[in-house]
Amino acid sequence: MNLILMGLPGAGKGTQAEKINEKYNIPHISTGDMFRLAIKEETDLGKKAKAYMDQGELVPDEVTIGIVEERLQKEDCKNGFLLDGFPRTIAQADALQTLLKNMNESINYVLHVDVPEENLVERLTGRRVCPTCGATYHVMYNPPEKEGICDKDGSTLIQREDDQAETVKNRLAVNIKQTKPLLDFYQEKELLVTINGDQDIDQVFQDIQNRIEK
Ligand code: AP5
Ligand code: ZN
Repeated sequence: MNLILMGLPGAGKGTQAEKINEKYNIPHISTGDMFRLAIKEETDLGKKAKAYMDQGELVPDEVTIGIVEERLQKEDCKNGFLLDGFPRTIAQADALQTLLKNMNESINYVLHVDVPEENLVERLTGRRVCPTCGATYHVMYNPPEKEGICDKDGSTLIQREDDQAETVKNRLAVNIKQTKPLLDFYQEKELLVTINGDQDIDQVFQDIQNRIEK
């Protein structure tokens, strides 16, 4: 099964991707995670991406398309994959179509996790992440058992750089502008499935399962 997860920053893509990955055993390909890893490792890619991410801007298409192209060629994508946060522009969506055609693959569903814009600032500023395993928490909606500590490995949780209130505003504005044309793009191809993301985490996942197992 080849899936795309779409949604504004904070809609819950990463949270649901973790669950989809566990249940269906398909690799979770998050361009945001790939950029964050590159920044941590101080690679050339990381240096390119950092300036854009810190401002809440999109990383240029040619850079982003390049890393996804490389990732999709890997062996573990042969039995399906889950794209999270890609494509985010029409140019990226077009490039993905071409790439999949060359691979003899296609997308089964584009899952749009839909959450009212007014809820997103709170979700983002309250998010905490584990620097070791990447698990995502929320101070109110999905707290760890012990405050500030990852349930899985005991690491101290941190706040993502781009979750500071000033950056969040621009990230939302940039993404809102890009989203509508992409939704239309996949609606026209009859791939778009809208999921109500304004419900508790397990209910959102239940709805996703109901739709993709139909
Ligand atoms: P990326 O890492 O993709 O960030 P994003 O799209 O801004 O999405 P987030 O990770 O912020 O949110 P999410 O939807 O995964 O929400 P989460 O599950 O964590 O991209 C970061 C940057 O990289 C971009 O700004 C850009 O610069 C660059 N980039 C990445 N891809 C790119 C591309 N294709 N092209 C160009 N540039 C690109 O949930 C959020 C919080 O809410 C958490 O605390 C969670 O616990 C909580 N939560 C989740 N679900 C629920 C629920 N149902 N109810 C209550 N709380 C919930
Ligand atoms: Zn952890």
